[in-house]
Amino acid sequence: MKQAVAAAALVIAASAAFIAWIVAGMAPRTEFVPYVEPRPAAEPGYLRAVYSPLHFRPAIDAATDAQCLSCHREVLEDRVRAAAPSGLKSDTLRAAYQETPTYAGEQETFHRRHLVTPLARQLMDLRCNTCHQGHEPREEAQGAAADAPPQSDAGFTLRKQVNPETTCLKCHGPFPWQPMGLPGPWEEHKAAFGNNCLTCHAAIRTKRHEVNYLKAAAIEEAGKAGAEACFGCHGGRSWYRIGYPYPRTPWPDMPAEVPEWAKDRPTQSEARFLKAAAQGTRP
Ligand code: HEC
Ligand code: HEC
Ligand code: HEC
Ligand code: HEC
Ligand code: HEC
Repeated sequence: MKQAVAAAALVIAASAAFIAWIVAGMAPRTEFVPYVEPRPAAEPGYLRAVYSPLHFRPAIDAATDAQCLSCHREVLEDRVRAAAPSGLKSDTLRAAYQETPTYAGEQETFHRRHLVTPLARQLMDLRCNTCHQGHEPREEAQGAAADAPPQSDAGFTLRKQVNPETTCLKCHGPFPWQPMGLPGPWEEHKAAFGNNCLTCHAAIRTKRHEVNYLKAAAIEEAGKAGAEACFGCHGGRSWYRIGYPYPRTPWPDMPAEVPEWAKDRPTQSEARFLKAAAQGTRP
């Protein structure tokens, strides 16, 4: 009995103390602590930047180079090393591409050679979003999560930030001599055609390069001097064995009959590259 009374007394004491504690907390404070907005970080958080809407569609489709470069300046500032790890100085060595007739100057990095080097500026007008169409920072594979691009999305290439088949392949495929009816590769037969593509292409497939990432007039100008500029994008820098299925844009005096190999070809460039399509402006 004594024990039960002691236990009840303990429960009552504990509850009373608890109620007193709550009430004390409810009483007005003597000191007023105003709410202060947390101080903005000097730089936006890393994760916030990784998940920037600019990395995803639709925002990336309308992004300007300047917007991307505000965080990724390094892609245009990175230069090749002055010396290889072995100690060899890069300015005493010639890279294979420095030996081509279209190249002038020192060695350069990937992004710079597509965006800012002399040949890039002369012939092309690539933007970040010509190649980059968004990526999934968590899973670099289709169908890995409910909200990831579906398995059927072939525009999203496993573990790559860029889809090579719809970008790189256009300018880095082999020389398509078979549909041209040439007897073999350009290197072996170019002399027969005066080493000039315009021998035939002044009249055949003359509607070309009308896309917002190429400078069509400058390309034709370069083609007059010889095949080098043309061949550079159509076989000269090939690192694919498959070819790109170019659109077959109707040209004046085009034969009405569509050859067998061209039956599945589109008749105009992809919509997002047509001149009228909106695209970001250069920085
Ligand atoms: C607010 C800053 C910010 C902006 C704007 C931004 N990025 Fe990023 N981006 C980042 C950060 C941070 C990462 C993660 C880098 C890492 O993990 O090494 C990243 C990652 C990337 C990657 C993947 C790199 C990798 O190896 O995983 C690509 C490609 C990329 N950004 C392209 C772009 C493009 C194209 C644009 C413009 C449409 C853009 N970014 C705009 C901050 C930004
Ligand atoms: C010719 C196509 C092309 C263009 C144009 C291009 N990129 Fe890239 N970029 C690539 C490829 C390919 C990679 C490597 C992707 C991979 O590893 O899967 C890459 C990688 C990157 C990365 C990852 C880090 C690195 O340096 O490897 C960033 C960031 C990036 N690009 C930003 C940009 C920005 C910003 C622009 C515009 C100023 C741009 N890119 C223009 C093709 C391009
Ligand atoms: C619109 C045409 C075009 C597209 C698209 C393009 N490139 Fe290029 N690429 C070029 C040109 C032109 C050069 C030569 C630039 C120079 O010499 O200054 C080049 C050079 C290169 C080189 C150096 C190779 C060499 O032999 O000199 C590599 C590697 C390369 N590109 C990879 C890529 C990748 C990867 C992509 C896709 C993400 C891509 N390119 C998309 C036109 C293109
Ligand atoms: C002997 C004439 C001839 C010469 C020389 C020639 N071409 Fe062609 N080219 C053709 C013909 C014919 C076609 C296919 C026309 C058609 O679509 O019916 C063609 C098609 C093409 C195509 C589109 C291929 C496709 O798969 O749709 C490209 C790209 C091309 N030529 C580039 C060049 C380049 C670059 C050179 C110079 C290095 C060159 N051609 C030299 C006759 C020639
Ligand atoms: C900077 C790279 C580059 C250079 C230089 C270049 N091309 Fe192209 N060419 C392309 C690309 C990219 C396409 C596909 C464009 C598209 O999708 O409409 C193309 C498409 C073509 C086509 C198919 C056009 C069609 O719509 O039927 C022909 C033919 C062609 N090029 C011939 C040439 C000739 C001839 C030259 C030299 C005067 C030349 N190219 C120089 C990149 C280049």
